[in-house]
Amino acid sequence: MRKLLLGLACCLVLNAGAQKFENLAQTPPMGWNSWNTFALDINEQVVKDMADLFAKNGLKEAGYEYIVIDDGWSLKERDKNGNLVPDPKKFPSGMKALADYVHSKGFKFGIYNCAGSHTCGGYPGGRGHEYQDALLYASFGVDFLKYDWCSTGKLYAPEAYATMRDALHTAGREVLFSICEWGDNDPWSWAPETGHMWRTTGDIYCCWDCEYIRDKGLPTQWSAWGVWPILHMRKDIRKYAGPGHWNDPDMLEIGKCMNAAEDRSHFALWCLSAAPLILGNDLRTANQDTWDIIKNTEVIAIDQDKLGIQGFEYSCSDSLSVWVKPLEGGDWAIGFVNLSQKTKNIVFDWKTNIINDDLAKRTLDANTTEYKLRDLYQHKDLKSTTKKPLVANIGSHDILLLRLSKK
Ligand code: GLA
Repeated sequence: MRKLLLGLACCLVLNAGAQKFENLAQTPPMGWNSWNTFALDINEQVVKDMADLFAKNGLKEAGYEYIVIDDGWSLKERDKNGNLVPDPKKFPSGMKALADYVHSKGFKFGIYNCAGSHTCGGYPGGRGHEYQDALLYASFGVDFLKYDWCSTGKLYAPEAYATMRDALHTAGREVLFSICEWGDNDPWSWAPETGHMWRTTGDIYCCWDCEYIRDKGLPTQWSAWGVWPILHMRKDIRKYAGPGHWNDPDMLEIGKCMNAAEDRSHFALWCLSAAPLILGNDLRTANQDTWDIIKNTEVIAIDQDKLGIQGFEYSCSDSLSVWVKPLEGGDWAIGFVNLSQKTKNIVFDWKTNIINDDLAKRTLDANTTEYKLRDLYQHKDLKSTTKKPLVANIGSHDILLLRLSKK
């Protein structure tokens, strides 16, 4: 009996750490990350500036929550006790003070490391130091950890990430765990138990439709992709996303290099995909178009819909791609993307396009239900309903994003 009780107690202790923090990320996480603009050239002033601009421009009200420092925040070596050391030149006040600053502005604070021996930028990784690092992050006041996959050798991804998850849980401070192994090990099949979001692809590159080859010709050659190809790299994984666990097609490139039409499409497509909305631009130089896009709460509501069902591409022909997402209350979001170089006149007959979603077990059928239509970028209701075919002009690479509600 004693043995049995001991065994049971042991089992309970072991299992106590073996879970992720629940009730986080019930809708896709929203925030800002330093990587897409600043790469390794990051410092505390930049992070403070972003926190200030988040607060000043009402990004909290729009739903943004996390401010995350990516790679390059530590010294190149751990200290004699094996602890990571924030680079004092980049972060002279230390991480705790910076986290306190971000918290004082009403936001949460995130940091980055890697499951391997080194980060992708060549800084010390977490391998073998998971529990020690988790305690350090808790002492900083970290609320979000992005965990990368460089220098991992033969590590087994599900186990490596589970170790860090357990370390975070044991450290006891609630942390959103963002898995970044680029979709190499089918994370959708194991990561829902481990993290709150997982990258589905390699890195995004700032362009609408391109492949960018890094280290071309070297053994280390790898590719990054533009908005359009990245969305099409993984098939049949929408069923793995839902409240608490999301497919992540990488951070946003809005306000960096594309035109306003492409930025609108990029943002809307991420929302239709129930993707995390992690801004990557320098908010200090953001223009009005960028602010209008990233603060469009009607578009954000598509992403943050409580059902948490990832949308899908319903059709793509003649340079017109149509995306749909079922929403709560019987609503639908639908986006028409013009892939051509010229403005396109479209006619979409709701009655002949009966859209069936096997995952949501719902059908958008204008023959049996009439829907009213709202243009989410123009912020206006259309005069027509789904009774009549939709007739519209869409600029090159732009999107017409509608919300359908039962009339
Ligand atoms: C990888 C990740 C990126 C970024 C860099 C940092 O490439 O996929 O998002 O974190 O590492 O070095």
